[in-house]
Amino acid sequence: MKIAMIHGQSHKGSTYHVGRLLAGKLGGEIKEFFLPRDFGEFCIGCTACFMKSEKNCPHYEKLKPLTKAIEEADVIILTSPVYVFHATGPMKAWLDHYGYQWMVHRPRPSMFQKQAVCIATAAGAGTKSTCKDMADSLFFWGVPKIYKCGVAVHAVSFDEVTKKKRREIEQKTGKIAAEIKRHEGNVKPGLKTKIFFSVMGMLQKKGGFNPADRKYWQRMGWTGKARPWKQKAVRHRAVGKGIKYG
Ligand SMILES: Cc1cc2nc3c(=O)[nH]c(=O)nc-3n(C[C@H](O)[C@H](O)[C@H](O)COP(=O)(O)O)c2cc1C
Repeated sequence: MKIAMIHGQSHKGSTYHVGRLLAGKLGGEIKEFFLPRDFGEFCIGCTACFMKSEKNCPHYEKLKPLTKAIEEADVIILTSPVYVFHATGPMKAWLDHYGYQWMVHRPRPSMFQKQAVCIATAAGAGTKSTCKDMADSLFFWGVPKIYKCGVAVHAVSFDEVTKKKRREIEQKTGKIAAEIKRHEGNVKPGLKTKIFFSVMGMLQKKGGFNPADRKYWQRMGWTGKARPWKQKAVRHRAVGKGIKYG
């Protein structure tokens, strides 16, 4: 199992430890990135990714290793401590760079066959909204199975986390790991994703939001009967090689 972990923080605190615990239970090959250490750019709002190609993004090259890791992964794990009830700025800034691959634009076919986990820890409250911040992008990328793991650790460092709380973390991550293993190799989108995708297809048939998106949907055959979750061998294609965008 290939795992891509993107941490919305550069330090190894409670959130990191919950993420690693889950990844350890899953086993397999882990590729891990810390934000902003490994990618700290802000979207400049040029809209070149939407209107032309994501390759025209001024941060395309810097983003490439992370894009490649999520593209190749079976499981994507996004982690973020709760900062004022939401995901960290670096996590948001990173997610902004993938607006072009939302279903409304040019979703990557491989996303429709993946599982993902959103992990958030808080001193007290805010894990729900923080997990949602990350889950929103995953859903609109087309990821069919998204698990949420929010933990109110009642601490500001992992050393302070009580034994009782650690047992709770063990249980939560254990349950999610079991679900992921159960679905391994057999991930299918639910009705919500299918309906949303069909509506997007109708919009593209009517012209879409821009020519780049429209051409992409036509080339993929998605304005006809083809569907990304039925396409075989779309996974693990190297970024920039297999699929042409824009
Ligand atoms: C800038 C900042 C904002 C925070 N906002 C919240 C908050 O809204 N709610 C909360 O319960 N904890 C909040 N916290 C506490 C952290 O979310 C909590 O300690 C978390 O477990 C830290 O994870 P870490 O050890 O991975 O850094 C905040 C901490 C910081 C530094």
